[in-house]
This record gives sequence, structure tokens and C-alpha cells, in this order.
Amino acid sequence: MNAQPQRPAPDAAPVLSVHHLVKRFGTVTALDDVTLDVLPGEVLGIVGDNGAGKSTLLSVLSGYHHPDSGELYYRGNRVTMTSPARSRRELGIEMVYQDLAMSPDLNVWQNLFLGEELRRWRLLLDRSAMRARASETLKRMRTKISPDDLVSDLSGGERQLVAIARGLLFDRDIIGLDEPTAAISAAKSGDVLDTIRDLHSAGKTVLLISHRLDDILAVCTRIAVLVTGRVAHVVANDGLTVGDLTRLVFTGGAGSAGSSA
Ligand SMILES: Nc1ncnc2c1ncn2[C@@H]1O[C@H](COP(=O)(O)OP(=O)(O)O)[C@@H](O)[C@H]1O
Ligand SMILES: [Mg+2]
Repeated sequence: MNAQPQRPAPDAAPVLSVHHLVKRFGTVTALDDVTLDVLPGEVLGIVGDNGAGKSTLLSVLSGYHHPDSGELYYRGNRVTMTSPARSRRELGIEMVYQDLAMSPDLNVWQNLFLGEELRRWRLLLDRSAMRARASETLKRMRTKISPDDLVSDLSGGERQLVAIARGLLFDRDIIGLDEPTAAISAAKSGDVLDTIRDLHSAGKTVLLISHRLDDILAVCTRIAVLVTGRVAHVVANDGLTVGDLTRLVFTGGAGSAGSSA
């Protein structure tokens, strides 16, 4: 499980690209001319200080926020993201936000299918099919979470796993995770990291935002460093240390690690 993740071929065509993305909130420029390729099957880490623009980047990629300018390409084709629902259905992007939007009073399978319920005759909810598919996906993830558990009874880590399970359930290609281990103990975050490794083994493309740089180094193939809304570096996770990465995050680091890829 701890083997260095396989890196995609450096000449692989990107699954997702952004060119010259700019996103402003009033007078704040959250993304300032961001150009970045996401390669198929990679686990791309996105790191940076608070306010660097990491969450904004994921929310633009998922159609939640609209950029002021710039272009977005999906498998080489220019796309206009209009909503998260469209990006999920048409581009297969599942985004797990920092403040998980879940309904605590619903159980796990109901949350998994929220907004994308299976129906019979386009009308009746197909409860047994949804429950069975939820159960199968959770088993595949080797969690002990039951489809019938109430979300309000789950721990923070378990809620993250349920949110990630949606990506598997609907067979999304690209799964974005915004600080999935921030609210859980270091010991428990191992389950989330294992799940990210499983997604990677299953050929999924993962975008991982985390301020836990050791988590980033444990699972990512490449790492993009954002500094005040700009991509300061994109580096391969090749013998990097937490110290190297910290330098890149906080000094924009023209130091030893340098840019590659
Ligand atoms: N919805 C919003 N409205 C106004 N400002 C925002 C909003 N979202 C983010 N920002 C601002 O944009 C900048 C980047 O924020 P964010 O992408 O959340 O950074 P990060 O995730 O790297 O901490 C920050 O200055 C933040 O205050
Ligand atoms: Mg953030």
C-alpha cells in the first residue's frame, strides 16, 4: 500500500487543462492567470498558504464558481462549466468540498444518491437498488460503514469516506478533495489516504488539496504550489521532503527543489 504511486507518462494528454484562469472576488484576485494541466490517472496535490486560491481553483473546475477569464479544456475540448451538476454528469468530476454538504438526518445511502436518485418508471424511487449499490461501493472501499447508518452518527473521517464513495458509485473520472483530512485525527486520516491510493489504483484522477504536507507526499504523483493565486511551481513527487515543500509554499522557493513537469 505504501509503494510510491505510479506516475502517468509525462507525455500523456491532459484530462483537464486550465489556461490563464482569472477569478476575482471583488477586489481580491483569488486566481491570477492560472495555467495547469491535470494528467489522466495522476494524484495531483495542490498546496499553498491560506488564501492562496486552492479551494477557488477546485470550485472553478467543478463549475461552482465561474472564472472572470481563462479557458477550460476537458480531454482537449474547450468546455464552459455552468454548474456542478453538469460537471458531474458530463465531465465526470466529483468534488468533495471542505465543508461537506451532507444531510445529517438522512442515512448513508440516501446521502450517496442525493440529487441523483435511481427511479423505476422515471417516477418511483428504487430504494432497494440504491441501498444495494451503496452497500457494494462501501464494501469495495473496505469500510465498516453501513448504508443504513445515519450520517449524524458518523465520525468526520467516515463522512469523508461517504463523500468520496459518491465518486466511485457514479464512476466519476476525476475526484477533487479539499482538505479531506483537516478535521480528523492524524491516526484516522490513514483510512482516507488508503482510499485515495485505491482510487489511484483504479485509474481515477485525483486532485488533492491539503495543508498536511506529509499526506501530500504520501499519495501524490505531482504537486502544484499556489502562491497568492498563481502557480508558482509544479513538481514531481520525487524524493521531495516536507522541508522542500514548505520552502516552496512559503518562500515561493527558488531553492533546491526547482520546477519540473
Ligand atoms: N466566496 C468568496 N467571496 C469572497 N472572497 C473569497 C471567496 N472565496 C474565496 N475568497 C478569497 O479568495 C482568496 C482565495 O481563497 P481560497 O481559494 O479559499 O484559498 P485557500 O483555499 O487556498 O485557502 C482569499 O483571499 C479568500 O478570502
Ligand atoms: Mg481552502
